[in-house]
Amino acid sequence: MAGERVRARAPGRVNLIGDHTDHTGGLVLPIAIDLETVVEGVRGGEVVALRSDRDDETAVVPRDVVDPRSVTPAWARYVAGVVAEVRPAEGFVGSVTTTLPLGGGLSSSAALEVAVALALRPDATDALTVAQMAQRAEHRATGVPCGIMDQLISCGGRAGHALLIDCGVLTVAPVPLPDDLDIVVVHSGQARRLEGSPYAERAAQCRAAEAVIGPLREAGPGTEVAIPDPVVRARARHVLGENARVRAAVEALGARDRPLLGALLQESHASLRDDFAVSTPVLDALVGRLDATPGVFGARLTGAGFGGCVVAVCEPGALDGWGPEATWRVRASAGATVEVL
Ligand code: GLA
Repeated sequence: MAGERVRARAPGRVNLIGDHTDHTGGLVLPIAIDLETVVEGVRGGEVVALRSDRDDETAVVPRDVVDPRSVTPAWARYVAGVVAEVRPAEGFVGSVTTTLPLGGGLSSSAALEVAVALALRPDATDALTVAQMAQRAEHRATGVPCGIMDQLISCGGRAGHALLIDCGVLTVAPVPLPDDLDIVVVHSGQARRLEGSPYAERAAQCRAAEAVIGPLREAGPGTEVAIPDPVVRARARHVLGENARVRAAVEALGARDRPLLGALLQESHASLRDDFAVSTPVLDALVGRLDATPGVFGARLTGAGFGGCVVAVCEPGALDGWGPEATWRVRASAGATVEVL
């Protein structure tokens, strides 16, 4: 209703394990984190206008925006993608603030999309529906065929838990996290954006693999040997191995086997580096330093790769004071919320 004041908040995420599996309908194990984006304002008018605490330029998006990718400033494209998806009955004037690093691989864009979607449609509270809306908004904003993981964990996160998401059938199972495990995120210092990255090419290579051996989510271990192209075969080997590692990580968490969990993270990093080719020398060096640190069970790049952040699991306090990189000890947090004030 026009004149209504609305406040929506949406967390970023870190993925414990299961990267580059969601776009093939595979398994992921992310947590929503205690870094978040807040959109607050008043409904009404013909445009969605948001000031940002990170950019001097305001986003002003007409309710009937046609081409979100042509909107400026660049961050306003995500707002425009959501507006094009939601087609709100009235506009919105307010502000966006965030504690997330931007373009750091902690899903700042998904958090923005989800917070804007909830601000424009405070009645839409079903996590999956909002996540799918936000995912389509990202596709509209960037043209990148991203999967559902980031938007779904931002909407559906659970305090103290990771979520095992089957991205093929879209089922979600909370997995409790042990108290004696720190989850630490370290920024590599390499900014990254999915737009212009090889993300779309990797997704296409997965589809090429599926043209030979069928859906990767159903393919048994080792079936990728039937793929003649060595690059496509390597991409498939990563996805099949990563799905198996997600299952093993859920079991390791259930058994409170922290060293096994760490070993799985290390294997995941090696696979993303060697078979999926989304790591960088900077990420590899950072993971190497973390793996060599006493009390660390394992570390890996998290998210799409090509820069961004690394996640480590360790003994409580083992990475306190880590530097020189920006570092966060993150807590598994609840998903997005919206209030009509
Ligand atoms: C990005 C995408 C996700 C997922 C990860 C890699 O974060 O938005 O959908 O594909 O990369 O796991």
